[in-house]
Amino acid sequence: MTEATAGLVVIGGSHAGHQIAIAARNAGYEKPVTILSDEDTAPYQRPPLSKAYLLGKVDAEALLFRPVAYYEGQGIDLRLGAPAISIDRPGKTVTTAAGEAIPYEKLALATGARVREIPIPGADLPGVHYIRTLADIDGVAAELDRVETVLVVGGGFIGLEAAAALRVLGKKVLVVEALDRLMARGVGQTISDYFADYHRAQGVDLRLSTGVQALTGGERLSGARLGDGSEVQAELAIIGIGVLPNEELASAAGLDCDNGVLVDQFGTTSDPDIFAAGDCTRFVHPFTGEPVRLESVQNASDQARTVGAAIAGKPSAYDAAPWFWSDQFDLKLQMVGLTQGHDREVLIGSQAENAFSVFYFGGETWLGADSVNRAGDHMAARRLYQQRYPLTEAELRENADNLKGLVKALRKG
Ligand code: NAI
Repeated sequence: MTEATAGLVVIGGSHAGHQIAIAARNAGYEKPVTILSDEDTAPYQRPPLSKAYLLGKVDAEALLFRPVAYYEGQGIDLRLGAPAISIDRPGKTVTTAAGEAIPYEKLALATGARVREIPIPGADLPGVHYIRTLADIDGVAAELDRVETVLVVGGGFIGLEAAAALRVLGKKVLVVEALDRLMARGVGQTISDYFADYHRAQGVDLRLSTGVQALTGGERLSGARLGDGSEVQAELAIIGIGVLPNEELASAAGLDCDNGVLVDQFGTTSDPDIFAAGDCTRFVHPFTGEPVRLESVQNASDQARTVGAAIAGKPSAYDAAPWFWSDQFDLKLQMVGLTQGHDREVLIGSQAENAFSVFYFGGETWLGADSVNRAGDHMAARRLYQQRYPLTEAELRENADNLKGLVKALRKG
């Protein structure tokens, strides 16, 4: 038997996983590249799942990053339905669920995150759904015809995007959020309040500061008992109460983990031949100097490119501004920066016209901005943030109608 040449093995075939393989090839990596994915679908975009895909505006084919033939053309062995179950670091092999041991020279972990399950009675009733994968959304869509009322647990990004789509599809929607405001992890009070008002105006029954005691029903879900003891009817529930990093494979292999696989600015783990990127990682962010686990497409893509380049022997430190977005009804929310810990919000634009931005400051330091239907503000804020521009409140107010002007001045300077 001839030994297979050890090359790059990527564990995980989502945003970060496929991008690591492509980035390594683009940077000149010539040895074999294998992607081990536990999903049955070629790498696809997740953001449209809770938006356009749920609304039936795009089909599964349109979600694929690349046709399967692309990977073949790049010499990337894309293995679907092939979860990795262990890593042997001394022997430098990865074992798959099918029992195959694949040798590696470099290993990249892009294992992502999994949904946090809700530990209450009735959570396993048919009709209770989590949404993370294409298959999850197909499961929801298959049941929608028989559903009048949907209970959404969690007023974060997933919950609110799903609530908006289901409302547009004509369902009665009840959203239950444990905290006293929406999307509290990502946005400030002004944005939370605005989105609460907007969802209510669209007919969403939104209950803040409450949870769910039990999901109830016989053969399938028919209702729920809320935190305040009240009973509500619902034939379908969507649970969106956050995600947990998939770090078990890494920690079982003895890699340093702490609420995520710990990586440096090149995406290197505590083993120099093992890298990681995306939702499963935690790292010191170059813009804040604080450790962070970022659950975003931006981070998955940028960190994957960093890892691919490092594996190909062309390391370049991660230095990407964090940004996010969320579409709910006709609102496009775009966020830049890491704004937790701010002590001041400055609003420009007009809430009445549903087009405004909120800039966040901590002391004199500008931390980032959230924009609603003001893409120009967002793009300008992203450029300024990436350049570490020390925007002041006075400057922001003076340039509120033309932030692009500031960017242009920066370029000339
Ligand atoms: P999340 O962390 O954004 O929101 C979870 C929400 O559930 C929080 O508001 C939390 O207070 C609430 N919650 C927690 N336990 C609860 C309980 N027992 N009862 C009621 N509420 C409870 O996570 P989410 O929305 O589940 O999203 C999952 C992942 O998908 C995240 O990584 C998120 O960033 C990502 N995502 C990102 C999007 C974007 O950037 N546009 C869009 C959709 C998802």
